[in-house]
Amino acid sequence: MLRLERIHTFYGPIEAIRGVDLEIGKGEIVSLIGSNGAGKSTSLMTISGVLKPSSGKIFLNDTDITGLPPHRIVELGISQVPEGRRIFPKLTVFENLEMGHYLERGDLQSSFDMVFTLFPILGERKNQKGGTLSGGEQQMLAIARALMSNPDILLLDEPSLGLAPIMVSKIFRTVHDINRRGVTVLLVEQNAKAALKLSHRGYVLENGAVTLQGNSEDLLHNEKVRHAYLGE
Ligand SMILES: Nc1ncnc2c1ncn2[C@@H]1O[C@H](COP(=O)(O)OP(=O)(O)OP(=O)(O)O)[C@@H](O)[C@H]1O
Ligand SMILES: [Mg+2]
Repeated sequence: MLRLERIHTFYGPIEAIRGVDLEIGKGEIVSLIGSNGAGKSTSLMTISGVLKPSSGKIFLNDTDITGLPPHRIVELGISQVPEGRRIFPKLTVFENLEMGHYLERGDLQSSFDMVFTLFPILGERKNQKGGTLSGGEQQMLAIARALMSNPDILLLDEPSLGLAPIMVSKIFRTVHDINRRGVTVLLVEQNAKAALKLSHRGYVLENGAVTLQGNSEDLLHNEKVRHAYLGE
């Protein structure tokens, strides 16, 4: 469904992504793990069009989407939840969600129904300002806002970062629910164990390159992964 071929992305002279190949099939949850600075966020931002790769190709269902601007990528059905949430603190929950629908992809009411079913707490707090929510609720809002464009593929950047353990499991359960509703998921996580347990397949990124890939089950038992990322 989504395929990256030999993607290179730079920040000025710094090459953050060095020839990444990655493939995500329809209906899958794929996790991308790696330590700080490995290039996980850069990979997501290159897919979502925020960053342009210097070379390589990105295909969505065999359509070349390399270098398209972010709003075109959203229109084509790929939506990103950025690292650090980036909700609008002064807007209400409801208004934050409306912003997620600005390209009018899909039906507004069914999008609201879906996110309030997945996150009932957001329905209860819909008139509250985003900035008054707890960290976990803000993460829910960030995910819900991305779902408001009715995406086929959801890109999640470290959804568990800085959250209490109980909230982390809730977020992971919800990612599972979202996937069961037919949304394909690319999940970036430092919490490698939880990510691999949830996903079908995984990639390990080191210094901007993929060094390992496979079924999540196999990666969970891989000696190197266990040592470097699972603390075992
Ligand atoms: N805006 C920027 N300008 C210059 N270099 C950057 C910028 N953002 C990231 N980098 C560099 O690019 C590389 C990859 O960064 P990236 O943010 O993609 O890593 P990451 O895997 O998401 O890390 P983290 O786990 O810390 O979020 C790092 O070496 C980082 O220092
Ligand atoms: Mg990152």
